[in-house]
Amino acid sequence: MKNFTTKAELQQYLAQLKAKGAIIGFVPTMGALHRGHLSLITKAQQQCDVVVCSIFVNPTQFTDPRDLEIYPRPLQDDIKKLELVNCDILFNPGVDEMYVGNEQWHLDIGELEGLLEGKFRPGHYQGVTQIVYKLFNIVKPDVAFFGQKDYQQFMVISRMIKLLNMSVKLVMCPIERESDGLAMSSRNMHLTPDDRQHALILSQTLNDLKLNFDSDKINLLKQEAMSTINNVPGVELAYFEIADGDTLLPANEHTKHIIALVAATVGKIRLIDNVIIKNKD
Ligand code: PAF
Repeated sequence: MKNFTTKAELQQYLAQLKAKGAIIGFVPTMGALHRGHLSLITKAQQQCDVVVCSIFVNPTQFTDPRDLEIYPRPLQDDIKKLELVNCDILFNPGVDEMYVGNEQWHLDIGELEGLLEGKFRPGHYQGVTQIVYKLFNIVKPDVAFFGQKDYQQFMVISRMIKLLNMSVKLVMCPIERESDGLAMSSRNMHLTPDDRQHALILSQTLNDLKLNFDSDKINLLKQEAMSTINNVPGVELAYFEIADGDTLLPANEHTKHIIALVAATVGKIRLIDNVIIKNKD
């Protein structure tokens, strides 16, 4: 695997591959790689000639400085994992390579960035679009791969691409779960054994909702889900929403594409999860 830490070297190398007609796949990450990330690399390998993975813990998307401080950075382990799945290129820049001091600009992608996660983490998606815009400009991928776990992030990035007429195609990959249902996340490693057990209520509640979904009872089902989660010790619910999968606004009995999304702090760790309840057709 080639490992680059500067934009210039990465771009020079990619230019040679692109000149030969290679389709470039891109998997942006913040490291602490788990099976979910590796499934994105595998998907990218199926669709592209060359796969670039970036590892960059982006400071501008953290709304809580402590969260940034404790964010895991096991770089050597990550490199081993990427080599094991035969990733072609790692881009692992430092903060100074990506940012020129304290940059003040951001992209305004409209109300989507202020809903759900955006309401609880103001500025988070501005940090995400800022770094993903920069990374897309450097890598210029043909296809970029993101996980469904960050469903709203996927929508925010899709919107950015549309508004800015960027030519990259986005692919959403399914959520990878532990055998007991917990959605894989780099943050799970900070859960105490008790908190990890309590965290299962998130995926269980989403699954129960999917099994018992009734579009005439959306509000009732939402209230029940919220109270189920609120009853678990150590779990502080931020939101549980049954939303239109195209807008993330609350769903109603006529909504065709429905997703349920949850965010909660378990112990000290903020977790998110979601499940698609109903697809468009
Ligand atoms: O999903 C993530 O890991 C991050 O938000 C991303 C897309 C790599 C941007 O920093």
